[in-house]
Amino acid sequence: MALSPDLVKEKSRIIVDRILSSPFYLKAQSLMVYVDFRNEVQTGSLIARALEEGKKVCVPITDVKGKKLTPSRLLAYPDELAPGAWGILEPGPGFVRPVDPGDMDLVVVPGVAFDPGGNRLGYGGGFYDRFLPRTRPGTVFVAPAFEVQVVEDVFPGPHDVPVHIVVTETRIITARCC
Ligand SMILES: Nc1ncnc2c1ncn2[C@@H]1O[C@H](COP(=O)(O)OP(=O)(O)O)[C@@H](O)[C@H]1O
Ligand SMILES: [Mg+2]
Repeated sequence: MALSPDLVKEKSRIIVDRILSSPFYLKAQSLMVYVDFRNEVQTGSLIARALEEGKKVCVPITDVKGKKLTPSRLLAYPDELAPGAWGILEPGPGFVRPVDPGDMDLVVVPGVAFDPGGNRLGYGGGFYDRFLPRTRPGTVFVAPAFEVQVVEDVFPGPHDVPVHIVVTETRIITARCC
């Protein structure tokens, strides 16, 4: 939240461009990408490009009560999206097309802060800690983040699921083998 709207836009562009030219993205045929909310790294151009490139693109649908995320295949961005839980955009009525988490090659994960080990501090709901283990072995978890979100240690708990790669506007942190 310390970043101005202009800086969020400029840095997001750099981060997304880095992801678009990364081997893990180029190799991925199917991916789930979070839809940014507030001052998160903006993912709109990533979603749009992945659709243009013919990849199978999903965005999460949030089940607040069940604390569950479901990937839903997106065919048009942003046309098919409407505000869902907490006002976050998700597929609107008529555009819900659930996909098996085991189908994902890549998951683009949001977060509040990350450390160099790929450990993640979320918003306190544990949604991604529950979702990520439902993917198959070999699925790559990447977190776009502003450099200000990278801290020395996020002090993870046993249920916290780390990401493999953190991509910021100045570096790519490969935290874990993938
Ligand atoms: N896989 C899981 N199964 C059951 N409960 C979980 C799981 N992952 C997280 N939780 C619970 O969800 C809550 C929020 O998780 P936390 O890691 O604090 O949030 P976040 O990852 O969003 O920062 C915690 O009480 C945690 O025990
Ligand atoms: Mg957690």
